[in-house]
Amino acid sequence: MRTQVAIIGAGPSGLLLSHLLAADGIESVVLETRSEEYVAGRIRAGILEQSTVDLLREVGLGDRLDREGDPHRGIYLQWPGERHHLDFVDLAGRSVFVYGQTEVQKDLVAARTAAGQEIHYEISETALHDTASSGSGTDRPSVTFTDRAGVAQRLEADVVVGCDGSFGPSRQTVPQAVRRTWEKTYPYSWLGILADVAPSTDELIYARHPDGFAMHSMRSATVSRLYLQVPNDTRIDDWSDDRIWDALATRLGHGQDGWHLTPGPVTDKSVLPMRSFVQQPMRHGRLFLAGDAAHIVPPTGAKGLNLAVADVALLAPALVALLQKDHPGLADAYSDAALRRVWRCTHFSWWMTTMLHTSGDPFDEQLQLAQLRWVTSSEAGATGLAENYAGLPIGY
Ligand code: FAD
Ligand code: DHB
Repeated sequence: MRTQVAIIGAGPSGLLLSHLLAADGIESVVLETRSEEYVAGRIRAGILEQSTVDLLREVGLGDRLDREGDPHRGIYLQWPGERHHLDFVDLAGRSVFVYGQTEVQKDLVAARTAAGQEIHYEISETALHDTASSGSGTDRPSVTFTDRAGVAQRLEADVVVGCDGSFGPSRQTVPQAVRRTWEKTYPYSWLGILADVAPSTDELIYARHPDGFAMHSMRSATVSRLYLQVPNDTRIDDWSDDRIWDALATRLGHGQDGWHLTPGPVTDKSVLPMRSFVQQPMRHGRLFLAGDAAHIVPPTGAKGLNLAVADVALLAPALVALLQKDHPGLADAYSDAALRRVWRCTHFSWWMTTMLHTSGDPFDEQLQLAQLRWVTSSEAGATGLAENYAGLPIGY
């Protein structure tokens, strides 16, 4: 098989890249280990930044988002006895949308299927070859894999893009002498639930509490998404639905100032570890990395999906210029341009995480409260949070 761009991974970064490339006449083939249903059903991110929404609209993926997505002006930040609303529109002139990653994925699959995009699901043994080559003559990169029917395949391409998430093989094919990585693990995880109950709040609540962080998010007028900070070795079986709702009620302030948390049937429950990770450069020879394949942020602040979208928004025009006009300038600049934003969001996600999660250290606790008081009482403090949360422009 032969194509212009071999894309490894059919998550949001891989499918959006294939969509952006196709709009400029560049052909791609997408390879994915999981089934289409599995990828579509994964419960993950829920918040889209203004620039993500603008981009999806621009490229014809905004119809259902505009009908079913829920624009939000801001968030609540709280700690025992205090709840403060930060209005991103007033502070930074930008807002966010509640629209689940599952829905973004469905819209992408529908658009790519309608366009006849070649996507191979349920492949195995993905291996990248000759990605450091010049790409000219017979010196071409390729990806080998075993297809769903068990047949060994080779896909030759002008470039290979690793959109294969945090556990994919692409980033490891950058030689060790070239790549540099940074990693931080956190001493806590999130227990996340999805529940068939109307949200008990109009805006997301981020709560610092002595028992640990809690968050109230949502997916629609009838579906709530909530998270609890839990220790890293937490077994999901130790947390009955009642125990989860009790902890959420305590940490989110049920009963304070007339606010009530309404529990409901839990339809999904999982424990998510938290990690910061960056690998650079995000390009080596004819291999480009995008999304979680190159960087992972802890979820506080909802940057993961938005960063994946921003990467491919920078990468698509770079590949179009390289492959259609033989102009390498944007492709050469891609890694540095993407990493500028990646490190900004890595800092923001770390900052939100460490401001809101309890570590057990009494000194940390006082610093966190001092920071929360400043962010909620100073316009400069609040604006910094709003600007980062609602998202910096793609070309930041
Ligand atoms: P992915 O969505 O991970 O897609 C990568 C794809 O590559 C996968 O489909 C995978 O199956 C495929 N793949 C892997 N290996 C191979 C291979 N060898 N060959 C072919 N294909 C391969 N972000 C937020 O902003 N808020 C959240 O609440 C949030 N919650 C999350 C919860 C979980 C459990 C996880 C894992 C992530 C969460 N994130 C969240 C992060 C966000 O979902 C990711 O940043 C986003 O999915 C990144 O998109 P991606 O396309 O780069 O990677
Ligand atoms: C969601 C997840 C986040 O990490 C966050 O900061 C806000 C919302 C969510 O899943 O809805």
